[in-house]
Amino acid sequence: MKTTIKEAKHYINQEVTIGTWLTNKRSSGKIAFLQLRDGTGFMQGVVVKADVDEDTFQLAKDITQETSLYITGIISEDNRSDLGYEMQVKSIEIIAEAHDYPITPKNHGTEFLMDHRHLWLRSKKQHAVMKIRNEIIRATYEFFNNTGFTKIDPPILTASAPEGTSELFHTKYFDQDAFLSQSGQLYLEAAAMAHGKVFSFGPTFRAEKSKTRRHLIEFWMIEAEKAFCNHNESLEIQEQYVAHVVKSVLENCKLELNILERDTEKLEKVATPFPRITYDDAVEFLKEQGFDDIEWGEDFGAPHETAIANHYDLPVFITNYPTKIKPFYMQPNPDNEDTVLCADLIAPEGYGEIIGGSERINDLALLEQRINEFELDAESYSYYLDLRRYGSVPHSGFGLGLERTVAWLSGVEHVRETAPFSRLLNRLYP
Ligand code: 4AD
Ligand code: MG
Repeated sequence: MKTTIKEAKHYINQEVTIGTWLTNKRSSGKIAFLQLRDGTGFMQGVVVKADVDEDTFQLAKDITQETSLYITGIISEDNRSDLGYEMQVKSIEIIAEAHDYPITPKNHGTEFLMDHRHLWLRSKKQHAVMKIRNEIIRATYEFFNNTGFTKIDPPILTASAPEGTSELFHTKYFDQDAFLSQSGQLYLEAAAMAHGKVFSFGPTFRAEKSKTRRHLIEFWMIEAEKAFCNHNESLEIQEQYVAHVVKSVLENCKLELNILERDTEKLEKVATPFPRITYDDAVEFLKEQGFDDIEWGEDFGAPHETAIANHYDLPVFITNYPTKIKPFYMQPNPDNEDTVLCADLIAPEGYGEIIGGSERINDLALLEQRINEFELDAESYSYYLDLRRYGSVPHSGFGLGLERTVAWLSGVEHVRETAPFSRLLNRLYP
């Protein structure tokens, strides 16, 4: 019976064949322990000299790291492994030999590993991170499908900039100028006027010269937009969505969290509602904490966000930022004209901002005024203004950065390990 490492649990005490790669091995005169992987998991194969023919035992001793092979044997229970079972090997069929595999079980530096990212993806921890990423995506579709959102795919090539003009990737669109999308928001707003509740999931690009553990040049964003929805109602959707994702990862990625040695105690506490603190109060709090460098009107840096996050056990919404540090489309706060109806959701444990969201301006004249103040090209926003010309309604939305969320849930330090092939300030290869 041909099966996989993951499915082998259904074949205890039965003989199966699995296509695998060898990740590591240990052998003595009488026994060889093969560490095998097949994409679905990692398993040990035990080759006992007395139980196999001489050629098979010799082969087991000689196999080199990352050689591909079909392995046949009996699946037997083994309580010492994470998996709960291993294979008593009967025969081995080599598919293709690998020699001098660059990533050996010894320690390598991060730059070396990033240069070999196409191979590094095979290692146990990197495999676990990608599985967690996949579970977040699965849980995202589940959440939005279950709550009546329609998936809408905004374009990647665009003529206008939602999040400010300084961080745009420029390209030619035949004889026109174009930009890679920074966010699908403006298109989602249009779609929300057609479908009420919409979401998207796609790549976004920021030509930011940031070299922090939270910044990628290309990252994937989940965005949602809802018509007839005010800022507070949007915050409730955001916290329910994030709580659902966390719960799904805890339930369905136990093995992966274990491989990553993720302390899940804090994740298990994640439940709605999340705390909210206004920007004003956050500035006061930071001053009390001894941050003399922060003045009202300035954006928070990573140390500020971390200090605020550390004050809570849960993700925390920082609401109502100053108008002048946020994009042009945000609805003014009726209680304080210098601030807008927006929030950033800050993850616990120093992982930083994972969501940016806001209520959008729905008044045509005000939006035109803001586009002027930001010195944006009104013509390229004409379609966006049409949404306010023809049956404008209050609406709100948000965007969650996938890689930062993967980093938080899997507990990896740097976002470069949360995308399969990260695009960083100094990296476009592999
Ligand atoms: O806060 P941002 O810039 O918000 C928007 O783009 C809105 N238009 C979304 C919306 O309302 N529809 O980005 C949203 C999230 C951030 O909170 C962060 O998680 C992530 O995207 N993000 C990045 N992730 C990795 N690298 C970068 N350079 C990122 N920039 C933003
Ligand atoms: Mg933001």
